[in-house]
Amino acid sequence: MTAEYKVHGSVAVITLANPPVNGLGLSTRQGIVDGLDKAQQDAAVKAIVITGAGGAFSGGADIKEFGTDKAMQEPNLNSVIAAIENASKPVVAAIHSVAMGGGLELALGCHYRVAAPGCSIALPEVKLGILPGAGGTQRLPRVIGVEAALNMIVSGEAIKSEMLAMLPGQKLFDKLVDSPEALAAEALAFAQSVADVRPMPLVRNLPCKHPEGDAYFQFARNMVKGMSKNFPAPAKCVDAVEAATKKKFADGMAVEREIFINLMWTAESRSLRHLFLAERAASKIPDVPSDTPKREIKSVAVIGAGTMGGGIAMNFLNAGIPVKMLEMKQEALDRGIATIRKNYEAQVAKKKLKQDKYEQRMALLSTTLDYADLKDADLVIEAVFEELGVKEAVFKQLDAVMKPGAILASNTSTLDVNKIANFTQRPQDVVGLHFFSPANVMKLLEVVRGEATAKDVMATVMAAAKKIKKVAVVSGVCDGFIGNRMIEQYGRQGGFLLDEGCTPQQVDKAMEKFGMAMGPFRMGDLAGNDIGWAIRKRRYTEKPDMKYSKTADLLCEKGRFGQKVGKGWYDYVPGKRDAIPNAEVEQMIADHRAALGITPRKISDEEIVQRLVFALVNEAAHILEEGIANKASDIDIVYIYGYGFPVHRGGPLNYANEVGLFNVVQAMKRFAQNPLDDAAFWKPAPLLAKLAAEGKTFN
Ligand code: 3HC
Ligand code: NAI
Repeated sequence: MTAEYKVHGSVAVITLANPPVNGLGLSTRQGIVDGLDKAQQDAAVKAIVITGAGGAFSGGADIKEFGTDKAMQEPNLNSVIAAIENASKPVVAAIHSVAMGGGLELALGCHYRVAAPGCSIALPEVKLGILPGAGGTQRLPRVIGVEAALNMIVSGEAIKSEMLAMLPGQKLFDKLVDSPEALAAEALAFAQSVADVRPMPLVRNLPCKHPEGDAYFQFARNMVKGMSKNFPAPAKCVDAVEAATKKKFADGMAVEREIFINLMWTAESRSLRHLFLAERAASKIPDVPSDTPKREIKSVAVIGAGTMGGGIAMNFLNAGIPVKMLEMKQEALDRGIATIRKNYEAQVAKKKLKQDKYEQRMALLSTTLDYADLKDADLVIEAVFEELGVKEAVFKQLDAVMKPGAILASNTSTLDVNKIANFTQRPQDVVGLHFFSPANVMKLLEVVRGEATAKDVMATVMAAAKKIKKVAVVSGVCDGFIGNRMIEQYGRQGGFLLDEGCTPQQVDKAMEKFGMAMGPFRMGDLAGNDIGWAIRKRRYTEKPDMKYSKTADLLCEKGRFGQKVGKGWYDYVPGKRDAIPNAEVEQMIADHRAALGITPRKISDEEIVQRLVFALVNEAAHILEEGIANKASDIDIVYIYGYGFPVHRGGPLNYANEVGLFNVVQAMKRFAQNPLDDAAFWKPAPLLAKLAAEGKTFN
């Protein structure tokens, strides 16, 4: 049983004990009910306290149980809360650290609540695509008011207990104790003090009204609609809270229940739940146990103060870690520092950063032209030109000066990390840290594990990534690692679509309607079309049999490299990012098509989306099979955080699971019949073919 029962004098204490966050799984729910039974049968017990062991009161329903039989099994959370409300002795929730979702709902079912300061209180269900399903939408408005409750339910954001305790007229907490340490004793004393109070108070009996009724809910609906494109849950939260104000408690509960069950089965909720677990799973490496000792990262060095180096440095400065930057020339250092200053000053101007914080961060930054000055850094990240010879020179110098045990990282986006590691006498200390541009903004970090990279280096950089608020995903060494290797196939399909009859804006619109932050051609213009051009030139010699559309090369021959030169697939006005279609580009595509003797055909948005997304899926299946990615969910995280893949689709592989792998393979077989496409590419990866044949998913 994952709840403990102990009697202290006349008070029984039920302690939820289901680490890490006392999720309310079946065995914990059963433990609470058993504890309540025992306490009621024991004549010496006059009151009951419910609290949580470790670092949480409760993080809510056990997310890992969702979709399994256990989630539905009695006692479900509503039954547990009913057992509390109907108990013959007062039940006091002693809340500390975290009370979220079902955890807060459990507390709201208790007769009294005593809380510690500093506790994160939330109904975050909306972030999982659902709404509170154990009375949260009905009880919270009764204790903190309709508007405050709706804000919490629709945003899912946590508020500190001491802030909530200050709300005028709040009935959420009966007592806020002075410190977390005082909670246990004060909750016991409080329970004794209310032991004889009858009738016992119930939140459900409190009134729930909004003075402006319909007008307020109409306003709330309009607000929510604007914020929650692609997600049904937020609007449903408004419906449920409105029901709390207009219906009897039991009828409001029925409304909440029905909405909860319906939302639980939506693809959007499945995607969000998948991503919640995927994000946490990404930090775990199968053969690197969580107790692997880590090296200390107290100072960082960055080589190269260009586009990436500056952004990388900012991440560490933001986390309070000193950074020393090295360049070849003072002018380059000055330019790099000026860019960092400009970025911070923009944040100060937008009031996102306080002046004193800005100054503190800059004070942590120093520069040098001399490698010897870096020798004491714990981690050095190289972000110099993408040329193996340049990297070789840098790593040889680092090998000569850096203290033993320092971690040597490369931000290379395409080069072989094993080769880079072998430029040193300490390949075990070398790792790839592939940041995404702009490096101070993008959340994704691909951690590229070389053949020789030591396990403690992996453990250390994964922890460092968390410290600088990145979501790190481990990739093996291959051309393009996980993300860029897949995007190459996506880009190739984009080219074929132009040859067959699409315009760039048709493809971009279809993908943006699907939910991508940006279609492939707008993305190319942003990243610089010359980057893809350089890669293709390499491919033409490395893989002469690989089929490519030539349109992107023709575009580059015209110097249309993208936003940085004001023209690419689209035109751009200085200072603006709007993509303006260009007739010359469209003519170029049409002329090329005619030269190839292709009669353009009308291509549906559905075909566009399927060809681009399934290209990602097939390449991902190869990546998984080769062990470049440890698990399918890691690939979804790469695409969500690095490439603007729509969150409500849960990543390319989650999307493929939703479509059904059998259907994905059928579509690939169809695409292979198209003479203008690349039949060899559309041969389903063996892993994909096997999973589809067995009726399985990537999970
Ligand atoms: N159920 C099961 N496991 C949970 C969990 C939950 N509700 N919440 C967190 N965990 C697990 C995580 O998966 C992770 O497991 P791992 O160590 O195996 O990877 C571990 O707890 C730690 O999680 P974090 O890394 O997120 O730790 P933090 O300290 O940063 O944050 C937290 C802790 C604030 C509780 C955060 O995990 C969180 O926000 N959790 C989600 C809470 C939530 O959404 N609750 C609502 C659930 S739905 C519900 O209650 C339905 C009800 O209305 C009927
Ligand atoms: P950049 O050209 O903006 O900056 C490179 C900097 O390195 C320049 O300031 C240059 O003076 C300096 N430099 C060159 N050789 C040096 C040396 N021997 N010693 C010290 N400094 C030296 O290039 P960018 O875009 O910042 O790229 C850097 C690295 O990051 C490359 O490996 C690139 O592939 C990788 N990368 C780039 C991304 C991007 O979007 N720009 C994304 C992810 C990785």
